[in-house]
This record gives sequence, structure tokens and C-alpha cells, in this order.
Amino acid sequence: MNIDGKAWRTIWLEAGGRSIGVIDQTQLPHTFTTRSLANLDQAAEAIATMVVRGAPLIGVTGAYGLMLALQADPSDGALDAAFCQLLATRPTAVNLQWALERVRDRVVSLAPAERALAAQQEAGAIAEEDVLMCEAIGDHGLRLFEELAARRPASRQKEPFNVLTHCNAGWLATVDWGTALAPIYKAHRAGLQVHVWVDETRPRNQGASLTAFELGREGVPHTVIVDNAGGHLMQHGQVDAVIVGTDRTTRSGDVCNKIGTYLKALAAQDNGVPFYVALPASTIDWSIADGVAEIPIEARSDREVTHIQGLVSVVGAALGHSPRGESSSAAITQVQLTPTGSLGFNPAFDVTPARLVTALITERGVVSASEEGLKQLYGVE
Ligand code: MRU
Repeated sequence: MNIDGKAWRTIWLEAGGRSIGVIDQTQLPHTFTTRSLANLDQAAEAIATMVVRGAPLIGVTGAYGLMLALQADPSDGALDAAFCQLLATRPTAVNLQWALERVRDRVVSLAPAERALAAQQEAGAIAEEDVLMCEAIGDHGLRLFEELAARRPASRQKEPFNVLTHCNAGWLATVDWGTALAPIYKAHRAGLQVHVWVDETRPRNQGASLTAFELGREGVPHTVIVDNAGGHLMQHGQVDAVIVGTDRTTRSGDVCNKIGTYLKALAAQDNGVPFYVALPASTIDWSIADGVAEIPIEARSDREVTHIQGLVSVVGAALGHSPRGESSSAAITQVQLTPTGSLGFNPAFDVTPARLVTALITERGVVSASEEGLKQLYGVE
């Protein structure tokens, strides 16, 4: 996708495959900077600290992390240890396990000397497939949006088609295009007048920082709202559809996504607003049916609740320059929100039961959030 006229992906090979390049998402939207990941530990750390994040991108980074590990040591023991280290970084997105298993299955029967190159090829294939799946999700979602927009009463046909989204399921969360944002990009490019309500998405504010950044760079009209505003907007007819991504969807259509998604689904149902979930096949966990009981929910540091990160302007005096402030600088910093001593609790995801999901938008088409629906698309016995 587009940043200042240049097409970017979120992850790429560098130095003939000796390292991988990524966009450092912890610094967005204020600073656009890239990082090189040159070994297993750096890849694992980038996932754990959310330099890279979003289920599909975590999977691709994990796959390349195995490649880096095998370059250093292609033995069976090193393969197993790297697999476990990467898998432990973030527990909820099933894409990580799926991608790691895919690379391990590809290399395990090979001679050690052949493993690193095979891992590179497999990780590259996963990345390319992710781009194709996300673009296809965009095409299916576009048709759905066009139908919904056309169905609005004549009096509302000239108004923008208002979509609400939570967290960041855009191109920064994948290799390119995104899942939930792909239909929005397609709609915008097709000339549908689309406007996006962007949930800020506390505690890490992926909506306010990443989704707003992406949409802005692509020229898509959008407005950032606090997480608590969505229900109010739905009650007043200001949301035509909700669309979110997912980190793990069970075979029965339960959807695990960023904390707060469930509340949006409840509000959407109460107000007759369609609630869509966009996902590639790599996000389906066929091994489980009950999302609430069976999906591991990542608990992150309470510091993400008690503190907040933003850009602080520092002027003259603070910098030791003129008190008139002609010399200024800005720095990304964290400030404390809560009283010292108050506890914080930070579950990073929640589960929206299938009954609250209007439909799943996949690379193979739009289908009901149900075992029948998913099996119909993927032909799984
Ligand atoms: O904690 P994050 O930022 O990795 O969470 C990301 C999400 O919840 C996304 O909605 C999900 O991974 C789908 S991304 C296409």
C-alpha cells in the first residue's frame, strides 16, 4: 500500500535473505521507521513487543524467524527450539502456529544443509499467498458493500457509506491490503463514497495510531472515535456496517479479535447493524468449536493500561535553548494515566460468538459464521 507515493509491504527479505526488514509499528503514526531482524531472537522479540503485529503478519514473521534460526543452526534440536520460542511469543493468533507448522513440515525431512533455503521459500510462499487472499477478501467485501449501500433508502443514497472498524486489520496487520480494511480500500478505489469510524482501541490504540495512519495515507475519509462511542453512533443511524478482523476463528464461526470487539457486536445486533468479520483461511482453527472456552487469550502487561504512549512537543526551555521556544522538538513518550498503586488488567482479545456475526468475508467468498458455512467454502470433512 501507499506511503508518500511509495508502495510498501510490511515485511521483506534483505541482504540476500540473511535478514528481514519490517516497519516498526511501535513508532507509528508519528515516526515511519524500518528495522532489520537478523536472527531468531530479534524476530521473536519483534513479535512479542509488537514491532510487528496483526495475525497474518505475525505468522509470516514467525515463518521468516524459523528461516533465520535454520541459517544459524539447521539441526533438528535447533528447529524444535526455534519453533517453541516463536510460538510462545503471542498465544492467540492461530496464524502463527499455522505458519510455523507449515515451515517445519516443509523442512523437517530435508538434509540440514538444505533447510534454510527451503524455509525461505516456504515463508515467501506464505507471504505471497497472504497478499492474494487479502486482495480477494477485498473484492468479495466490495461487492457486499456495494449491495448494502444500494439498499439504503433513496434519501440516504448521497450520504457516505459509514463503516465502523475496531483495532487495525489493515495492510499493517498483514503483508499487504489487510483483511477488514481491504474491502474499504477496494470500495474507495471503485468510487464508492466510504467513510470509516475508527475505534481508537485501547489500550494500545491500534485504531487511533495504525488504522488512522493507513487510511490517511490512502486518502480514505475517516474519523477516530473513542471505543465507547460506537453504540451511540449505531443508535443514531450513523453506522451502515461494522467490519473487523480476527486472530482465530473456530470451525463453528466464533470469532476471537481485539478486546472490545464483542461489545461492538452486541451493540450492532441491538441496532440491526450488520457485523462482518474478514479473514483468510490461515485464521481458521479447525480443531476447536467453542471459542469462549477454548481460545487462549493473551494477557499483556498492565503497563499498557496504566500508561499511554503519544507524541510530546518539547520547546526551548526544556531543551535548554531559548525560552521563546523557537527551538522545538518532539519525542514519542509514555505518560501515566492511573494513580500509582492502582492495579491494571489487560486481556488483549475477546470472543464474539458466531450468533452475533452477520457473515464471514473470506478469500473464497462470503458465508455464514457456522460450521456448515465454512465447510461449504473449504470442503473440509
Ligand atoms: O494485538 P494486535 O494488534 O496484534 O491485534 C490485532 C487484531 O486484533 C486484528 O484485528 C487481527 O489480528 C486481525 S489482522 C488482519
